[in-house]
Amino acid sequence: MREVLIEDFKQLTERNIPWNELRDKTFLITGATGLVGSLLVRCLLYANETINLNAKVYAVVRNTDKADRIFEDEKTDALSYIVADLATEKVCCEGECDYIIHAAAVTASKLMVSDPVGTIRTSIDGTEKMLQLAVEKKVRAFIYISSMEIYGQPKTEGRTAEKDLGYVDIETVRSCYPEGKRMCECMCTAYAAQYGVNVISARLAQTFGAGILPTENRVFAQFARSAVNGENIVLHTTGESEGNYVYTADAIAAILTLLVKGEAGKAYNIANEESHITIRNMAELVAKEIAGSKIQAVIDIPEDSASLGYAPPVKMWLDASKMRALGWKPEVGLVDAYKRMIRWME
Ligand SMILES: NC(=O)c1ccc[n+]([C@@H]2O[C@H](COP(=O)([O-])OP(=O)(O)OC[C@H]3O[C@@H](n4cnc5c(N)ncnc54)[C@H](O)[C@@H]3O)[C@@H](O)[C@H]2O)c1
Repeated sequence: MREVLIEDFKQLTERNIPWNELRDKTFLITGATGLVGSLLVRCLLYANETINLNAKVYAVVRNTDKADRIFEDEKTDALSYIVADLATEKVCCEGECDYIIHAAAVTASKLMVSDPVGTIRTSIDGTEKMLQLAVEKKVRAFIYISSMEIYGQPKTEGRTAEKDLGYVDIETVRSCYPEGKRMCECMCTAYAAQYGVNVISARLAQTFGAGILPTENRVFAQFARSAVNGENIVLHTTGESEGNYVYTADAIAAILTLLVKGEAGKAYNIANEESHITIRNMAELVAKEIAGSKIQAVIDIPEDSASLGYAPPVKMWLDASKMRALGWKPEVGLVDAYKRMIRWME
């Protein structure tokens, strides 16, 4: 495993995370070959080696070859794969399971607009299957990984807290993603109320950092690649969208905290409140601070930009006070997040 990730995981094992309550438990993680899921798996396996966590991890994946490549340095008896396409298949888990973290979802904007039905099916059917498994296994906690996109365009002035649901235009195809997440959160609340599942929704701000996959193509990875390659950052929108970001290890710390401290049926924003910026300003920041002003941010909106599936512009400043009240606080800001991600990429 590369140095920068080891640093992140070492710091995570030293952080204010309820590690003792998580000891000797079994975790089932969906989306385990994705950014968030793979880091959760790796972090738990690292904690096995270093702080004797004694965790058993089931990684739900569609492609075991991909999983083998991602976890090639971490293969141990503590890690098993469960192969399932959550849009169509059930997850068969023979043994006991203490915690489920459901991170699988369609996340590529292009796919959201080219396969909106599949995006919704993965969301709704996949989440319901996982909640049913949670009932069957009588899990201690279930974390649904949601998104700040569920807020749509917030109506309120000032910070957006968990109750401030905004507008989502359901006549726009791209809304399959936020609207699917909204329904999943609603289903989580329903399972908490009706079946007593201790289910918590974790609404992530845009999350990036060390540990991104080589195939990653979201805007943060594109900006970082431009900086590394000394090429101008080309924006395909006017870049007015204004939102929050959170570093990968900070997000992992929050998710692990919620497993023990989250309240059933409730949602929590996971965001670095200071990492708040427009896309355009972020591109300029990367050009200046990361590429030493050797590149520039330029706007070039393609004619077929609708097919790229960019989310509509929003102005949102997430309030993370509910998460902070659980003792969590983010530790890595935007510029350091880029520096650490680039160290990992290189
Ligand atoms: N990274 C972010 O910026 C961010 C921000 C907000 C919310 N989220 C949410 O966090 C979760 C994890 O996102 P990520 O950044 O790791 O994305 P990712 O694209 O890296 O990972 C998503 C994972 O889901 C899996 N998946 C997709 N469809 C599936 C299906 N039908 N069956 C089984 N697995 C399937 C993929 O194989 C992948 O492993 C997602 O729910 C996403 O919506 C991420």
